[in-house]
Parts: sequence; structure tokens; C-alpha cells
Amino acid sequence: MERRKLFNGMEIPHIGMGTFGSDRFTHDQVADTVYGAIGAGYRLIDCASIYGNEDKIGMYLEKAIDDGLVTREELFITSKVWNDMHGRGDVLLSCAKSLRDLRLDYLDMYFIHWPFPNNHNPGCDGDFRDSDAKPFDKNDFIAVWRQMEKLVYMGLVRSLGMSNMTITKLESVLPLCRIRPVALQMELHPAFQQPELYDYCIKKSIQPIGFCPIGSPSRPDRDTTSEDISVIEMPEIIEIAKSHGVHPAIVCLKWAIQRGQIPIPFSVDEMEYVSNLQCVDTPPLSIEEMTKITNADKRCRLIKGQVFMWEGAKDWHDLWDNEI
Ligand SMILES: NC(=O)c1ccc[n+]([C@@H]2O[C@H](COP(=O)([O-])OP(=O)(O)OC[C@H]3O[C@@H](n4cnc5c(N)ncnc54)[C@H](OP(=O)(O)O)[C@@H]3O)[C@@H](O)[C@H]2O)c1
Repeated sequence: MERRKLFNGMEIPHIGMGTFGSDRFTHDQVADTVYGAIGAGYRLIDCASIYGNEDKIGMYLEKAIDDGLVTREELFITSKVWNDMHGRGDVLLSCAKSLRDLRLDYLDMYFIHWPFPNNHNPGCDGDFRDSDAKPFDKNDFIAVWRQMEKLVYMGLVRSLGMSNMTITKLESVLPLCRIRPVALQMELHPAFQQPELYDYCIKKSIQPIGFCPIGSPSRPDRDTTSEDISVIEMPEIIEIAKSHGVHPAIVCLKWAIQRGQIPIPFSVDEMEYVSNLQCVDTPPLSIEEMTKITNADKRCRLIKGQVFMWEGAKDWHDLWDNEI
């Protein structure tokens, strides 16, 4: 498994396995898939407390280690603190629960999942609004980050990451971080390449980790609108896939890895997750193919986060500082 070096000296696998079951797959299915994925060679597993399956995944992580498939040191396990655990002392509680559920002594990386405390019930409709929802506040965010930093000092977490940020938000908080984030989770796929944010991260030595790398074809209905692009149906992706004799999903992942981000695709289908992992062992995309994909960017955000809107927000663009 090839790895990328992070600025703090840690190494992270160049591809990982997502664990958000999109409300369509059971927790047992996802956990069982994690065991299969580790057997297939995955080492980076992207977890989060809100996915509700960390306890099941923990059983299989322990089993994979006990069965000799992998050692703890070879694994790179991430988790994320959810929006309803931003209060004083809550981050430690949330991290402790994730560690207990995942049956681990430490996490390799811990993320703030979203940069505000807004919450919604799992499975709610896209038009659900939390009456307590608030816009981003730099001081509130830094108070959460201080709790994250404490987890590193305590040895519970090896590195920190942010997620769903914008350049505007990063500019306001990075100068205040005592421990800087080594990675940013952001939506990245051929229809939503976020070149400005991507370049900003590279300039700051922050590793982009791309979620929904295949365009999340099985995402929940609440995250789907009529303007959304189906990434694996983009003509440019289909054409390149045909010429390589692979599924369009594989083109998305090859593009991601060659560009430099770490994709974390999800699939419960063994053939799919094995071919996703092995996509780097097949001939690379040519410079012309990479350029064709760059030029095909649709600036189409799929995970808009509209359920996090606060009273007075015009629309979901406000969540993203109107950067897209
Ligand atoms: N930080 C955040 O806020 C955030 C947000 C979203 C996601 N994430 C993370 O990112 C991970 C990935 O995102 P995602 O699961 O939404 O989207 P994704 O990986 O882009 O899409 C997953 C879907 O792609 C299809 N697929 C996967 N491999 C395939 C292959 N080789 N051939 C054909 N189809 C294939 C499967 O769809 P079918 O089941 O329809 O075949 C699968 O359910 C999540 O699991 C989660 O860990 C993080």
C-alpha cells in the first residue's frame, strides 16, 4: 500500500474505505465490509460517530487484528466529532466513545466533521431546519479546536483534520491553531474539483482527502437535487473508461490519486471495493486524459448541507461563504 507523507511526518495510505452507509446499508453490512476490505489490503478506514456504526466496525477491527490480517500500526483509522458535541468537554466524551466503540487506544486522525454546531436527526428530510442553528463563528470553532488539540496532548489522537471548510474559514482559524490540521476532508470528484480550495490546501501543506469520490451515486435522497450531475455518467469519464476498459468509477479514483488527493470510496460490493483498491496497479491516465477531466469540472456540489442552514441564511451557498 503506497502512502503519502503528511507534514507532521506521519504517513497515510493513498486510498481509503468510507463507512457512511448512506442510510441504505445496515451497520452490520458496513462493518462486515470493513473486515473484507482489510483482508483485501485497505489500511485507511474513514469512520465518524454520526454514521452510527463504530461499535460494529470496532468488532471487526479487533477481529482483523486477532485473525492476523493486519496490525494496529499498519492501520490508519480516522473518526470525526459530530456537530452536537461541540460544547465544553464534549469533544473528549465523543472521542472516548469512538475509541471505546472502535476498540482502539488511539485514532490516527480526528476531524471536526462540520464547522458549526448545527444538528439534524438522522434520516430527516432535506427541508428540515434546526431552530438553534447558527452560522460559523471563529471563536466557537477555536474552542472546539482547543479540545481537539488536548486529545493530541493526551495521546488519544495522533493528528487532527478539518472537514467541510472554505478558504474564508481556514484563513480565519489557521493562524489561531496551536496544532495545525494535517488534512482537510472535502467533496472532490470530477464534477466538483474545488481547484481554489485544493490549491490553497496544497500551499498550506494540508493534505486534501476527497469524499464522495465517485459522486456518491447511492447518497440519501435528502442530499439529491434535480440539478445534480451524475459523475459516472459524464461523457468525458465514460469515454476514458471505455478506452481503459474499466468502470467509470475507476477513472474517478485514478484521477483523484494522480491529482494528489486521497479518495475514500465506499462500497459493500467485494468486486467494487477490490477494483477500487487495485485501480493504481492499472495503466495511469495520460496527461491528455487528466486535462480532459480538469476541463470537465461542473462546479456541482452534491453535499450542499442545506439541513445545517440557520434562520436568515439565504440558501445553502451561505454555508460555503459563497465560494461555490
Ligand atoms: N466529511 C464528510 O462530511 C463526508 C461526507 C460524505 C462522505 N464522507 C466519507 O466519504 C465516503 C465516501 O463517500 P460516499 O460513500 O458518499 O460516496 P462514493 O464513495 O462516491 O460513492 C459510493 C457508491 O459508489 C458506488 N461504487 C463504489 N465503487 C464502485 C465501483 N467500483 N463500480 C461502480 N460503482 C461503485 C456504489 O454505489 P452503488 O451502491 O449504487 O453500487 C457506492 O455505494 C463515505 O463513506 C464517508 O466515509 C465524508
